[in-house]
Amino acid sequence: MSDHIKKIIIAIDGHSSCGKSTVAKEIARKLNYIFIDSGAMYRAVTLYCLRHKLIENGSVNLPELKANLGKIKVSFRFNPDTQHNDIWLNGENVEKEIRLLTVSQNVSPIAAVAEVRRLLVALQQEMGKSKGIVMDGRDIGTVVFPDAELKIFMTAQPDVRAKRRFDELTAKGEKVSYDEIRANIIERDRYDEKRKESPLRKADDAIVLDNSYMTREEQLKWILCRIDGI
Ligand code: CDP
Repeated sequence: MSDHIKKIIIAIDGHSSCGKSTVAKEIARKLNYIFIDSGAMYRAVTLYCLRHKLIENGSVNLPELKANLGKIKVSFRFNPDTQHNDIWLNGENVEKEIRLLTVSQNVSPIAAVAEVRRLLVALQQEMGKSKGIVMDGRDIGTVVFPDAELKIFMTAQPDVRAKRRFDELTAKGEKVSYDEIRANIIERDRYDEKRKESPLRKADDAIVLDNSYMTREEQLKWILCRIDGI
């Protein structure tokens, strides 16, 4: 088992709904590292925007969003019940609400705003200062931690990802349609890859992990082997 004395940074980027956070959490637990779901931060900002009507029908009110950025405080706090860090928005635990499909349907345009990215990337870099961190997102290996010791680019076939997200939301009691979810993940990937600001792309030194036909255990083992090789 990996028993690094020297703490490293592990960056996991990739397409939506391919299980990045799940595996990142498992690795962090194994190594006793901090796990940060950077997508949760973009989702929390999106939730704020939805509540304050700074995004409507997919269109962002940019001047108002920029003027209000200083009022958006995003942080993580440890939840002793789940043993995980929950995301908080201005003093409120929004861990559950940020996973709703309405947030997924509005997050990409908000995440494309340069000022939003600047704010959140600075927070993420601060969190990684002492290393010993696993962070997942879209630009972790390219922008947030370009010097990360291990970079993984995760993907899976769209139908597999849609099925996983459908099962996840249905298990939570959310009434969602499979087709709507599939459309959302394809649309989000397209948007994230095409945007000007820090588009989703594989870092040159990242290793690709396609987990379409892998179990959770298999992919965990796959990543732990790479860590051992460092
Ligand atoms: O859970 P899922 O993989 O579907 O998405 P997520 O990781 O929660 O990220 C939600 C959205 O936030 C993405 O579709 C991106 O638009 C944005 N995001 C980003 O731009 N940069 C990151 N580092 C993380 C997320």
